[in-house]
This record gives sequence, C-alpha cells and structure tokens, in this order.
Amino acid sequence: MKLEWFKQVVDDLSEGVVIINKDRVIHYHNQLAKEMTGWELGDVVPYCSYCKMREVAPGEERCILAHEDPLPSFQAHMPTYKGKKETSFEMSTTKIPLEGMEFMVLILRNPKWTSEKERLKIKKLLIRDTIATQEKERKAIAMELHDDISQGVYSAFLGLQGVKHHITDENYQSHFRKIEGTLEKTLDNIQRLTKQLRPQAIDQFGLKATLKSAVEDWKKFYKVNFTLSYQIHEYQLSKEVELQLFRLIQEAVTNAVRHGKAKEIMIKFTESEDQIMFQIIDDGQGFDVGQTKFKGLGLYHMKERMAMINGEVNWDSKIGGPTKVEGYVDMNNKGC
Ligand SMILES: Nc1ncnc2c1ncn2[C@@H]1O[C@H](COP(=O)(O)OP(=O)(O)O)[C@@H](O)[C@H]1O
Ligand SMILES: [Mg+2]
Repeated sequence: MKLEWFKQVVDDLSEGVVIINKDRVIHYHNQLAKEMTGWELGDVVPYCSYCKMREVAPGEERCILAHEDPLPSFQAHMPTYKGKKETSFEMSTTKIPLEGMEFMVLILRNPKWTSEKERLKIKKLLIRDTIATQEKERKAIAMELHDDISQGVYSAFLGLQGVKHHITDENYQSHFRKIEGTLEKTLDNIQRLTKQLRPQAIDQFGLKATLKSAVEDWKKFYKVNFTLSYQIHEYQLSKEVELQLFRLIQEAVTNAVRHGKAKEIMIKFTESEDQIMFQIIDDGQGFDVGQTKFKGLGLYHMKERMAMINGEVNWDSKIGGPTKVEGYVDMNNKGC
C-alpha cells in the first residue's frame, strides 16, 4: 500500500494519532490529533496533568503510558495549544521500533465520543477484572497470614510455654498470663481473618460445608441467629460458582448485621429444573432500595458476581425491614 493511502486511512480514523520519538517530539500526527490539540510537527508533547504531578523514582519514566509496565489506557487532562486550555483525553500508547529507533504511537480519544454503551461495557469489564484480582490477592494474603504470620505467632506462643514453669514471681505470672491471652486472641483473629479472606473449605469441601462452618463462626462473632437450608441435590456446582455464591452470602450477611442490625438471618438454597435459587432474609431495619441501590460497592459487586456466573440478584426491602436478597444461577449453561 502506498504511503499516501496509509496517511489517508490514519487521517480518517475517529481517534487522534500522534507519533513521537523518545524525547516526545512529534514526528507525525493525523488531522484529528491536530484539531484536538493544536500541537504542530516538531513540538514536544507535554505531560498530562497526572504525569506532571506524579512522584517518580530516579531514572523512572514520568509518562505512565510509556512506563516499563504501562497502563492499557488512561484518562487525564492534557495541555493543548488550542485556546491554551487543558482538555480531558483518554489516551493509550504503543511502542514501535522504526529504523533502529524507538517511537511511541499515542492514541487520543475525546471521552465525550465514547458512547454510553461502550462506557458501561468498559466499567463492567473493569469491575470483573477487579473482582478476579481481588480474589487472587485475598488468596495470597490468606496464605501469607496462615503460613507465615500465624506460624510465627504460634512459635512465640510455644516458646513462652517452654519458660512458663521458670516464672515463680506472682507479679510476673499474672503479666505472663496476659501475654499468653493476647497471643491466643491474636491466633484466633488470624484464623478468622484467614477464613474470611479465603474460605479454604470452598476449595476442599464445597459450598454447603463452607456455609455451615461460616454460619457457626458468624453466630459466635455477630451474636445473630441463623437458619441455613441447603437443598441442592441435582447440581454439582463448579468452584467458580461456589466461590461467587459464598462471597455474595458473605456480603449480604455483613450488610444485614452492619447496616440492618439484624438479629435473625435466614439463608436458603433450592433448585429447580434449570436453576439454583438463593434467598437471604434478615429481620433488620431495612432500607430504601431505589434510593440506595449501587451507591456502595457491595451491592454492585454482588450484581456483577452473579452476572459472571449466569445469575441474577435482586433486593426487596423497605425502611423498617425486613430485607430479602434473592436470585438465581442459570444452570443450563454447561460452563457452570
Ligand atoms: N441488609 C441490609 N439492611 C439494611 N441496609 C442495607 C442492607 N443491605 C444494604 N443496605 C444499605 O445499602 C447500602 C449499600 O450497601 P453496600 O453496597 O454493601 O455498601 P456498604 O456496605 O459499603 O455501605 C448500605 O450502606 C445500606 O444503607
Ligand atoms: Mg456492604
């Protein structure tokens, strides 16, 4: 293809394209980039409002998009020479080696052009990514807590036991018992936190056993009565479905206790021909669903978690309570 044709194609794109060298000098820009920014060939592309301010280590690249570990895309204010004002752009870059030198292709997009639909799609993908990353991180932290910190505290506890009988002074003995008590409590807390971060039982024993054990812990910890009914016999749930359902219940229970001040919580799982259904009902203070929905991240994540496994969740509540969180997972999809 002739160079002229390439230029025509790039000029017709609905995105601004700017090619810069490693000193940020503009070697080429398409018509749209020129109109958007007012930059000219030979100009040095300024840093965006974020990169200008961000702290960088000695030798580190200031531009977040040209970084060793670059972001796929990024939105920030960029100083333009058009009317001398800063404009908000979505930006992404690709590094390309040309004739032995390294160039960067900077793609500029006016966020106003991104359609609402596209925006929602990106938001959804981001949330799903965040949830997946969160799970990975939680697993890693749970392992560290269990295998390192908990072992360390336990060794200290055992070490103390070894010197216990040498302490004869009454004052030191009571001091010793306090330290012993603190270590025991810390071990309990680590264990509780580890389970919360990654209910190991999910991987080993499945949702039913994990829920049973969690309900026992919640009863003690939250001082709330629980009824658990798990009537799923036909379906063998995948680990992914089990984990997402467990996280949903965890959030619903925390919300019932924390926001609703519930004293009774019922968790119910049933199945039909092609779905499994769940309900979490609490007798707490309730809330105005229309007003509150998706103001916090918890409900939003619950919704997204269900969408990830072909399911749905809905809330039925009013001020004064009760609150019903219910939904289903479609089992027709063999991927589940
Ligand atoms: N079971 C519940 N009882 C009473 N209020 C609730 C309940 N679940 C959710 N809410 C209300 O919905 C809001 C949003 O919940 P959520 O998205 O989990 O965010 P967060 O828990 O971080 O506040 C809560 O702040 C609370 O006002
Ligand atoms: Mg919450």
